Amino acid sequence: MAYGDYQLEIYLQGLSGIVPSLPMAYADWEAKAEAAMPASIWSYVAGGAGDERTQRVNRTAFDQWGLIPRMFNAHRERDLSVNVFGLTLPSPVFMAPIGVIGLCAQNGHGDLATARAAARTGVPMAISTLTEDPLEDIAAQFGDTPGFFQLYTPTDRELAASLVHRAETAGYKGIIVTLDTWVPGWRPRDLATSNFPQLRGRCLANYTSDPVFRASLPQPPEENPQGTVLQWVQIFGNPLTWDDLPWLRSLTDLPLIVKGICHPDDARRARDGGVDGIYCSNHGGRQANGGVPAIDCLPGVVEAADGLPVLFDSGIRSGADIVKALALGATAVGVGRPYAYGLAIGGEDGVVHVLRSLLAETDLIMAVDGYPALKDLTPEALRRVT
Ligand SMILES: Cc1cc2nc3c(=O)[nH]c(=O)nc-3n(C[C@H](O)[C@H](O)[C@H](O)COP(=O)(O)O)c2cc1C
Repeated sequence: MAYGDYQLEIYLQGLSGIVPSLPMAYADWEAKAEAAMPASIWSYVAGGAGDERTQRVNRTAFDQWGLIPRMFNAHRERDLSVNVFGLTLPSPVFMAPIGVIGLCAQNGHGDLATARAAARTGVPMAISTLTEDPLEDIAAQFGDTPGFFQLYTPTDRELAASLVHRAETAGYKGIIVTLDTWVPGWRPRDLATSNFPQLRGRCLANYTSDPVFRASLPQPPEENPQGTVLQWVQIFGNPLTWDDLPWLRSLTDLPLIVKGICHPDDARRARDGGVDGIYCSNHGGRQANGGVPAIDCLPGVVEAADGLPVLFDSGIRSGADIVKALALGATAVGVGRPYAYGLAIGGEDGVVHVLRSLLAETDLIMAVDGYPALKDLTPEALRRVT
């Protein structure tokens, strides 16, 4: 079935008087999520660094590009599948790691619900190190859909190795090391409410279930939650330098992907250091304000990656955005906040709905505009609008 057929399903249900119970576009997912989520979780997810200018331009930068329609190239079948890291994915879309996704679900088990949505849609989930359920339990929900583990590298190298080896054993298909979050960015919304979920003991399941972390505690986490959080604060953020890359590389034979790369020189150096993929992202503008839109960094990073797969996220809100990121060279495109909002308003079904909507729009734009396969989406398909 083509992804675009989701619209047929919706229109046909309309004939029996059934209209979609969930909204159809990002602005409404966002508005409904705000109403559905506790205020502190909402501001944590929706907020960004500083006055959130980077977060805004991540979004508006997409409006500066337009896809040129091509006619007499209509194809009933579109091919959105992509081969990456030795996997064949049914579409070039994945769910970006979101640390508090566990808390975005009404029952507090959003990691599991998202994993089940991955199983149902074939859209891989990259899980964060910061989850409410242990990485093994999340992987058990993936079905046949591959999953990725995102590592926040702790200062304790033995703990880093333990997390990576657990991910390998649990069947994750790649390790994404996030480089831009060894220290939290300045986030006025969270500061104004003194809100940092991990310091309240949330989303630490991968640590409290880890034998190396547990061995570092004077008492088990169940008996001393406060001491556990204090130990976590000590080890969470490792200010990595290029000298650490050979060690990271040595941790695993799985594909190693580095997240947060925006400069071509960093992409080149990471490539020379033996990574398998570059992940171009500015963390959705959550970490540093005053930056450039992530999508503007993508072409330079793709060129420097010189054939290595390049994942991209930051600002994806629609199928049109996905098409533009693909045309600018992304191998696969990460959805962030939209699926968190889907989860908040509809649980597992909400994530499935958001993903199916984004994929349907992507597919239909490719159909209407005469770009039936991913290989047809190149920078020549785009024009600057402004
Ligand atoms: C609430 C929230 C938590 C996040 N947690 C993580 C995380 O744990 N690890 C990580 O690498 N990125 C994390 N990110 C960044 C996302 O992976 C992604 O880069 C970002 O959401 C893209 O921006 P967008 O959602 O505005 O499109 C988080 C993003 C949000 C919104």
